[in-house]
Parts: sequence; C-alpha cells; structure tokens
Amino acid sequence: MSAEIIDGKAFAAEVRAKVAEHVAKLAERGIKPGLAVVLVGEDPASQVYVRSKGKQTVEAGMESFEHKLDASTSEADLLALVDKLNNDPAVNGILVQLPLPDHIDEDKVINAIDPAKDVDGFHISNVGLLATGQKAMVPCTPLGCLMLLRDYFGSLSGKSAVVVGRSNIVGKPMAQLLLRDSCTVTIAHSRTKDIEDVVRQADIVVAAVGRPEMVTGDWLKKGAVVIDVGINRLPPAEEGAKGKLVGDVDFASASDVAGAITPVPGGVGPMTIACLLANTLTATCRANG
Ligand code: GUN
Repeated sequence: MSAEIIDGKAFAAEVRAKVAEHVAKLAERGIKPGLAVVLVGEDPASQVYVRSKGKQTVEAGMESFEHKLDASTSEADLLALVDKLNNDPAVNGILVQLPLPDHIDEDKVINAIDPAKDVDGFHISNVGLLATGQKAMVPCTPLGCLMLLRDYFGSLSGKSAVVVGRSNIVGKPMAQLLLRDSCTVTIAHSRTKDIEDVVRQADIVVAAVGRPEMVTGDWLKKGAVVIDVGINRLPPAEEGAKGKLVGDVDFASASDVAGAITPVPGGVGPMTIACLLANTLTATCRANG
C-alpha cells in the first residue's frame, strides 16, 4: 500500500467543532439553530443515520426535532408536516430521509420544502442555483467530498475528474461542484463504454455507484486521488455475524496505485453529517440576516 489515507473522521470532527463555535456565538444573540429530520418507515440503515444525525446536532449546540412516521403515512399527511415545519420559526433546516415508501412521490415532497430550509440541497431551486453558479444549499455528501479534495490539493483548477455514478443526491451535484472549481469533469455510469479506460484518465475519482468494490486498482492512474462515497454491507461470512462494510472502491488494490484514498468507514460518511450541520448553520445565519 502506498496511498495516503484521507482521514474524513478527523476532518469532520474539525468541521463540527467550527460549527459548534459559531453556534455558541449565535446563542449570545438568543439564536439556536433547529434541524428537523423526518423519517418515514423503519428502514434499519435510515434509522441508524437519523439517530446519528440527532446526536451530532445536539452535540453542536443545535435543537434537534425528530419526526418518526409510520410506513403507511399518506403523502398528504407528510406534505402537511412539511408545511408545518416550513412555517415553524424554530426550524431552520428540514431533512426528509430518503428513500420514501413507494406510495409517496419523493420529488413532490422534496419540492414542498422551503428552499431556504432545504439543508439537503435537493429542492429544484437549489439544484438550479448550483448548476448556474449562484448561492445555493449544496447537497451534503458532495460538499463533504469537495472539502476533502480542496484540503488535499489546495486548488482543483485544471484537474481531470471522473465521477462514477449519476444520482441526483451525489453524482450530478458532485460534477457541478468540481466544474465550479474548474476541473475537467466526466460523469461515468452503468452504460459508459470502456469505463475502466475513462476512469484511468482521472486525477480525481469520485465513486458513488452503490456497487461494492467495483473500482479496482487497475482502473486508476498512478497517483490518482480516490474519494469513495459507497457504503455497502457484504453478506456475512458466517450466520449471525454482521457483513463487512465496504465502499464502491476495492481498497486493497486501489491503495497500491492511488496517491490518496478515503477509507470506508471513516472517510466520506462522517463528512456528510458534518456538512448537514454546516448547512443548518448557514440556513440559520441567512434567516437571521
Ligand atoms: N438517504 C441517503 N442519503 C441521504 C441524504 O443525504 N439525505 C437524505 N434526505 N436522505 C438520504
């Protein structure tokens, strides 16, 4: 192994500490940022995320409002809750955990959130603002990846970047952010021809496909910087045990070729929640002038 390990866990702790410092200053003015998280149903992975978000929100000195709704909640009831949160002055940020049950239209719910409180940056106005280089709420995972890359490189200008995956949550906004930082950006996906050759051109590889260990060392240019967004649980080796957590990158082979790489866990994951807190702080500051 020759790659430097990019310690997202340590970096995220620094971001959270800076957010907490700023929150303490707001408290002197009688302002306390509030983050509402809405979870519909009992998806175990979502429950873990939501618990972790709530805990870190409180640790940063913010108010956490958790709304856990039954899986059978109607779209109308969820929209009514979003409307209530939009109009609640104690709530500065609203996050509706995805995925939602099949009977609920995700786009309709996301676009019902007040764009100024859309700390996920998924509302169509924030998507448009980001795409046109205006002041937007930026999705947390890509923002966390960008922070790690800026910290590593300083300037990203002129770098060639390949984003593997084209989701609305990560792939597309990641490409927009890299473009805004003057990278030459390619989005590769399941239909990309000779994907290995495309990825091998990149100085920066961001893997966000949700396929365990898909990107292997032989896909990489020597010295490439690899950001692994994937969190996949492999089937357990024995019954009753928990499967190993792996990324979308095969860490063992990739770390022999890459210049630097994020581990899973402890890479991008902690940055996502840190950026959620940072976005909630931003929303609060904008709401209070
Ligand atoms: N589900 C997986 N990642 C995310 C995220 O960043 N935001 C929301 N709302 N749901 C998610």
